[in-house]
Amino acid sequence: KDEDAQARIRAARAKLGDKAVLLCHHYQRADVYQHADLTGDSLKLAKLASETDAEYIVFCGVHFMAEVADILSSDKQIAILPDLAAGCSMADMANLAKVERCWRELTEVLGNPDEVITPVTYINSAADLKAFCGEHGGIVCTSTNAPTILDWSFKQREKVLFFPDQHLGRWTGYKQDIPLDEMLVWDPDQEYGGLTPEQIKKARILLWKGHCSVHQMFQESHIRRWRMQHPDGFVISHPESNLEVCKASDYVGSTEYIIKTIQAGAPNTHWLVGTELNLVNRLAEEMKPEGKVVQFMAPTVCMCSTMQRIDPQHLAWTLENLVDGKVVNRISVPPHEAELAKVALDRMLAVS
Ligand code: 13P
Ligand code: SF4
Repeated sequence: KDEDAQARIRAARAKLGDKAVLLCHHYQRADVYQHADLTGDSLKLAKLASETDAEYIVFCGVHFMAEVADILSSDKQIAILPDLAAGCSMADMANLAKVERCWRELTEVLGNPDEVITPVTYINSAADLKAFCGEHGGIVCTSTNAPTILDWSFKQREKVLFFPDQHLGRWTGYKQDIPLDEMLVWDPDQEYGGLTPEQIKKARILLWKGHCSVHQMFQESHIRRWRMQHPDGFVISHPESNLEVCKASDYVGSTEYIIKTIQAGAPNTHWLVGTELNLVNRLAEEMKPEGKVVQFMAPTVCMCSTMQRIDPQHLAWTLENLVDGKVVNRISVPPHEAELAKVALDRMLAVS
């Protein structure tokens, strides 16, 4: 039962004390989020993971986030994901075999891509893709620092291969005045990404054909309809939403940015929010006393179903095992991969 799990979590945490830290992403469900020691967006959580001294980093988020915690923490610390099935469908849209094939095809068209293209991986990706970027002079970005990282990338080389989220890449390039016809989608399931050699040569950014299943639900028509009823209201979206949604929004930014912007907004204002439902529900409750009305953008329920897998039962089971001296669901990136991935992550942390 849920109440039992809550009591078990509290009891296990009391026994573990400072040995375990609970890091929680903003999309986490309320019955888990309430136990967090530290919360954040993916950039903040990556920094927190590199700073904590706790022996166990219990990550209430998704797989790639726990991998980052493992890579950035010391060898003695242990990263744990309470349910190993908590993946990220967007991260799964790129894999090393496909990225390496893309790199080979780019070599045929452009010569040595290491001299021409900076590979940029969104932090929502597997550790071996971060390692690929580390090896090829590339970098990691998050939704917070993507503009700074894109600037940095163009200072290294003339083109960028951005994976796996086409929308974050497109929005970031658009804001930096890169023409849309110089940002082309690379479809990993087609030869040469479905592009001609001329298109590849002309492109400034090659956008991997990936997306977030949650943010793809938001449409510009939702915003248009809402504005008819709330002409003075504000629209704020996560940059994983499509270009039309981002263009129609008053503000675009990471989950941490969304929270801070709405919190700083004037009392008695209306907000339409294009990001995951757990976060929007939490904000809606939090803002009520100030008379702010916070609404979710899509008419259908869209939660991050994988993040949702970290439930009180899994968390209780994980913590109780730690109390008994057993580590379950450890996330451990192989050392060689971790070393190269850390190169790309450290570049990001140094730049942002
Ligand atoms: P943030 O960088 O805002 O935490 O976003 C991560 C994410 O997975 C959004 O879908
Ligand atoms: Fe991945 Fe989308 Fe979930 Fe974020 S919301 S973790 S991008 S599936």
